[in-house]
Amino acid sequence: MSIIKYSEKFKNSNRLLFTTPSHSQGEIIAPGSMKMLGKTVFENDFSEVDGFDNLANPEGIIKETEEKFAQIYGTRASFMLLNGSTSGMIAAMLATLRKYEKVLVARNCHISVFKGLVLSRAFPIWLLPKYNKEWGIFEPIEPEQVEEVLKKNRDIKVFIMTNPTYEGLRADIFKISQVCKRYGVILIVDEAHGALWNFEGSFGVPSVNLGADITFQSLHKTAGALNPSAIMHIGRSSVIDPQAVRNALNLITTTSPSYPLMMNIEATVDFLASGEGQRQLTTLKNNITDFIRAIKDSPSIMIYTGNNDPTKLLIRVASLSGPELSEILSEKFNVEDELSNDKSVLFLTGIGTTKKKLNRLLKVLKQIASDNITLTVHNNEQGDFKISEPRVKYSPGEIFNKKSVEVEQKYLIARVSMETVINYPPGIPILLPGEVIRKEHLPFIKDKETFKVLDNV
Ligand SMILES: Cc1ncc(COP(=O)(O)O)c(C=O)c1O
Repeated sequence: MSIIKYSEKFKNSNRLLFTTPSHSQGEIIAPGSMKMLGKTVFENDFSEVDGFDNLANPEGIIKETEEKFAQIYGTRASFMLLNGSTSGMIAAMLATLRKYEKVLVARNCHISVFKGLVLSRAFPIWLLPKYNKEWGIFEPIEPEQVEEVLKKNRDIKVFIMTNPTYEGLRADIFKISQVCKRYGVILIVDEAHGALWNFEGSFGVPSVNLGADITFQSLHKTAGALNPSAIMHIGRSSVIDPQAVRNALNLITTTSPSYPLMMNIEATVDFLASGEGQRQLTTLKNNITDFIRAIKDSPSIMIYTGNNDPTKLLIRVASLSGPELSEILSEKFNVEDELSNDKSVLFLTGIGTTKKKLNRLLKVLKQIASDNITLTVHNNEQGDFKISEPRVKYSPGEIFNKKSVEVEQKYLIARVSMETVINYPPGIPILLPGEVIRKEHLPFIKDKETFKVLDNV
C-alpha cells in the first residue's frame, strides 16, 4: 500500500498513540504554525508507528512506495531523499568511496560534492569543463576529456559530474558512461535540475537510462514538491548494491523522517506520472516554446538555445552585462533571477511557471531592451580570467578542522588555502581548502587584506 493511502486508513482507525510527535496529530498547534501551515500537515505527521514502516530498513509501505518509484523511473532501486540532492550526493559518495580512494570530479559541481569529500576522505582529481565566453557559462563535460584522465589514472574509482549543468546544458551521458564502464569507474550524475526529464523527454533524458550508476533529482527544483524533497536512483545495469546506498543514507538521515515530506514526494511522482501531470508538462513545454519564439523575435534580447533543457532560460539583453541586467530587473521591475554571470542571466522555470509569469518576464525584458534604461549600477566587467587545474596538497577530508592562520596577500603564494573562493566569472571554485595558492589565484582574492591558509606549525 502507498504511504498516502495508509495514512488515510490509519487516521480512521482511532488508534491511541502515546508516541512522538508530541502535537498528537494536531491536538495542540502553535497559533503561528497553524496560521502558516494549517492543520492538515500536523494530522499527517506521524512517527514510525504501527504500519508506517521504517525508512532506515523499509519492509512495508515505504518499501512498496519506493518499488513503485523504481517502476515509474525504470531503475534498479529508487530512494526518497528528505534532505535534498545534497544528501543524495553525500550518500552516493559514502557508498562508493573509501578513504584515500581517487575520485574524478567535474569542477562545476555543487558544494555537496565538497561535503562528500570531507566525509568520505576520498582524494579528488578535478576535471575542468570548457568555458563559453560568449554566455559566461561552462560547457558540458566531453567524453574525450573523461577518457584522457581515466587513461592516465587507472586507480580512479568514481567519476562525478553534473547533468544538466546549472544553466541546463546537457552532456553526452551515454558516451561518458561507456568510457566509465571501459575503465571500471562508477558514474555518479548529479541530476538535481533534471527532475522532469523522466516525464518530458524533450527536456532531457535521465542519466540513469543512459548508463549512469547513481543519480538524484531535486523534486523541489522543477517538479513542484516542497523543499527539500528529492529522489535517488540506481541504474538497472549498475553494479552498485542498493543496500550499500541505503546504509550510507542511514548514516546521514534523521531517525524521525517526515511523513508529510514522504507523502509530498509520493504525491509529486504520482502526479508527474499521471495524465493530468503529463498535460501540465505539455502546457509548460508549449509556454516555454512560445516564450523562446517571442524572445527570438526581439533583436536586442538573446536566449541560449544549444543542447540544453529549455526550462532553464539563459538570457542576455543588448549590451548589458549579467549583473547589470539582474540589478535592473530587481530594482526597477521587482523580478528576481536565479543567478547572473558576467554575460547572461539565468531564470529557472518549472511545473508551476504559468504563461502569465512568463509573459510578465517577456514584457519586462522587452521594456528593458527598448527603453535603453540608464544604468545606475556598477560596471561588473571583470575581463578575462585564467584558471588551470588545481594542485591538491591535502584532500578536503584531510584538511577539515586543521588549524588555519591569516596571512597577508604578499605571503600567499605556495601556501595551502583554508578558504573556498568562488568568483563570477568563472562561477566554479577558484580555490578550495587543501589547494596550493598560485600567482594566477591572486587576482581573484585581491580585495581581501588577509587570507586563511594552513598553519604550518
Ligand atoms: C547542481 C546542483 N546539485 C545539487 C544541488 C543540491 O540540491 P538540494 O537543494 O536538493 O539539496 C543543487 C542546489 O542548488 C544544485 O544546483
